[in-house]
Amino acid sequence: MHPLDIQFDDTSKAKYLQLAQSIRAAIIKGNLAPGTKLSSARVMAQTYQLNRHTIMNALQLLVAEGWLVSFQRSGYCVTESLPIESSVNSRGTPKLVAKPYQFSQQLKTPQTMELNQYRFNFAGGLPDLACFPHKEFKRAMSQIFNYLDVTKLHYGDISGVAELKLQIEHYLHKARNLKPADLLICNGSQEALFLIAKAFVGKGDFVACETLGYPPARKAFAACGAQLIDIKQDDEGLCVDDLKAQLECYPIKLLYLTPLHQYPTTVTLSPTRRLQIYQLCYSHNVMIIEDDYDHEFHYRCQPLQPMAADDPAGIVIYLSTFSKIMFSAARIGYICAAPEVIAQLTVWKQLMNHKNDVVMQLAVAQWMKEGGFERHLKRMTKLYKQRYEDMDSCLTALQAKGYPIEYIKPDGGMAMWVNFNRPVEHLKKALAQLGVYVQTEPEFYFKDGVRSLKPDKQSYIRLGFAGQSSEKMQQGLAVIIKTLYLSK
Ligand SMILES: Cc1ncc(COP(=O)(O)O)c(C=O)c1O
Repeated sequence: MHPLDIQFDDTSKAKYLQLAQSIRAAIIKGNLAPGTKLSSARVMAQTYQLNRHTIMNALQLLVAEGWLVSFQRSGYCVTESLPIESSVNSRGTPKLVAKPYQFSQQLKTPQTMELNQYRFNFAGGLPDLACFPHKEFKRAMSQIFNYLDVTKLHYGDISGVAELKLQIEHYLHKARNLKPADLLICNGSQEALFLIAKAFVGKGDFVACETLGYPPARKAFAACGAQLIDIKQDDEGLCVDDLKAQLECYPIKLLYLTPLHQYPTTVTLSPTRRLQIYQLCYSHNVMIIEDDYDHEFHYRCQPLQPMAADDPAGIVIYLSTFSKIMFSAARIGYICAAPEVIAQLTVWKQLMNHKNDVVMQLAVAQWMKEGGFERHLKRMTKLYKQRYEDMDSCLTALQAKGYPIEYIKPDGGMAMWVNFNRPVEHLKKALAQLGVYVQTEPEFYFKDGVRSLKPDKQSYIRLGFAGQSSEKMQQGLAVIIKTLYLSK
C-alpha cells in the first residue's frame, strides 16, 4: 500500500479519527481497492509519525464500521465485497456527478426581513418587541419548572397542553364571544393554514381569496395543489356579487377571509356582507377560513364579533395567533372549528410534527393565568392607539401640505393602507437602501392563480404603525415622501 496523503490539521478531532477518515475516503474514492492489503501497523506508525495505538484504534474503528477486515497475523485488508470502483473514468473525469433533484415542485426561496437592517420599520404586523414584559414572562417560564409534570414533555397532547387551551378558551369567550368545543394549538397560524390546506385541498381544487391578500396563506394553499381564484374587493371589503359569480363558475371549496381587518387594506367587513357571504358559502358547500390575526387591537369601538361566533352550520374554520400580542417567535396560533374538522386537522398535525413547544405553551398559560397577558394587552392597546392617532395626524398634515395622499382611517389593527398616488413598484428596494422597510401594493397580489386580478397601476403602501415609536414613524415617513415625491 502506498502511503496516503494525510494531513493531521483538524485540531477538533482525535488523530485516530483523522487517520480513519483518510483511509475511508481513499476507499470510497477507489484509491484503495477492495481486497487491498494495508501496510502493517508498525510501518504505518513510522510512515505517519504516530503512536502504534493510534494506528490500531483507527484500523479497529474501520473494521467495526465494515470498511476493513482483519486477518489473524496477516493484518488488515479493504473489505472485498465493497461495490466500489474508481471514482474517475479513464479520461480522469468523475464518474458520479450530482443530478438535478426531483422535488415534487420547485418552491421559491422566501425573502425574510432582518429587523436590525432597518432604521425605520413599517412592517404591517410588527409589534413593538421592546415593550414586551420580558422579566415577567421569564418568571412565568421559571415557575412552570417548579411543578412541572414531566410526562408532558413526552409525546401526546398533540392539540396543545390543556392549561393553555383552557386559558385561550376563556380569552376567546371574553374577547371574541367564541365558545369553541375544542381547540387545536399550532406552531403559529401559518401551520394552521397549512394543516387546513392539507386537510381540504386536493390537487386542482379551487380556493377563493380576496384579490389583495396575505401571501403566506395563498402560498400554502397553492403548495397543496389549490387553484386560486381572486374575488374582487372594494372599499368595504370582499364583493359579494363577484363571489356569487365565481361560485357559479368554479366548484370552490374554501374561501380565505380576513373580515375584521382585511389584509392588507384594513377594511372591516360589514355585518350585511358577512351574512351574505355566509349564506352563499353555505349554499355552495364552501368552508370559510376566518383569519382573525390582529383582533386584539381595535380602537374606535368593540370589534365586530367573528363570523365563527355565529356559525350554525359549522362551516367556519377560525384561526388566530399570539404573534401580534406577544412575538412571532413564540409560535402560538390556534384553530377553532367543528369537532370533526379539529379531529382531522389534529391527525395532520401529528403527521407533521407531533406537537408544539410544551415549555413555551405552559409558560404562556401561566402568564395568562397570572393576568400578565391581559395587562400587556391593555398597555399595548393604549400605546398602539396613540401611534395610530399619530400616524393619522402625520398623514393629515402631509395632505394639508399638498401631497396627494389618500387613505381611510381604519377602525383598528396595526397598519394603514395608504394611497400615495405614485407608482410603488420599485419603491420597496429604493427605500430598503435608505434603511426603510415598507410593504407595497404589488406584494399582496398572487399572479399565479386561475383568476388573478392584479391591476396595472399600483400606488398603495401598507404602513405599520405599531412596531416603532411615533418619532421614528415621522422620520421614516419623511424619507418615504422625499423618495416618492421629491427625488428626480
Ligand atoms: C393575515 C395574517 N395571518 C396570520 C399571521 C400570523 O402568522 P403566525 O401566527 O404564523 O406568526 C399574520 C402575521 O403577519 C398575518 O398577517
